[in-house]
Amino acid sequence: MTNSPTILVFDSGLGGLTVLREVVAARPDAHYTYVADDAFFPYGHHSEDEIIARVVPLMGELIGTHDPDLVVIACNTASTLVLSHLRAAYSVPFVGTVPAIKPACARSKTRRVSVLGTKGTVKREYTRALIRDFALGCEVTLVGSPELASLAERELGGQAISDNDILAELTPCFVGDAEDASARTDIVVLACTHYPLLLGRMEKLAPWPVEWIDPAPAIARRVSDLLVPYSGSIAQTGAEMIFTSNRVHGLGATLTPFFGGRAVA
Ligand code: DGL
Repeated sequence: MTNSPTILVFDSGLGGLTVLREVVAARPDAHYTYVADDAFFPYGHHSEDEIIARVVPLMGELIGTHDPDLVVIACNTASTLVLSHLRAAYSVPFVGTVPAIKPACARSKTRRVSVLGTKGTVKREYTRALIRDFALGCEVTLVGSPELASLAERELGGQAISDNDILAELTPCFVGDAEDASARTDIVVLACTHYPLLLGRMEKLAPWPVEWIDPAPAIARRVSDLLVPYSGSIAQTGAEMIFTSNRVHGLGATLTPFFGGRAVA
């Protein structure tokens, strides 16, 4: 591994940018390539077989082209399914993004936790196993959202998203007695990397205040631990953004903050 490691961050779309910004903050010395598999977005609408057949060979091509020192699968819908396949096929280290059920259940005071993810993520055996192993007696409500990732993409692209559209996806997370703070959901796990893009809106729309768990800072710490120790330098290189559809995104200024202010080619 070089002193300026190359990190490839992968998602179905723009949600992985919420993970990227934390990784960039933790490792400003690295070179970044962000890949949005938008030609296949949203992953939440595809079957498990389709996602495996899509992501495993695509990752082989990306590793061949970009030669990363580490790959972050910044997508719960993919990580809960393909991480074991990727690790079996390629020797580069992979860091995944999976629902933060363990810390949420350890922290919940009301013992009511909701997990908001794509329909795919909440169906996964991986997610069910996390609940079996780490719920610690909490009541865990799985909420599979069909549209929230697409709404987040549209908002980032500058389109207006209505409160009602967001609320329709969010409301099932709020379980229990609205009038009794000790008997209602107190933690919502953001189990899709797109959802932190809408966090400000969701906080305002929530029927009562909850703690929202975004695993991105923990992922960034894990990435940093796996790389050569941080030297204190800041990479002078820019960063690359790749859309598998080859579309012209026109998101230049919007993307820059996620890349820590680097020029994005
Ligand atoms: N960002 C992805 C995740 O974390 C999913 C969005 C999609 O359905 O493609 O699950």
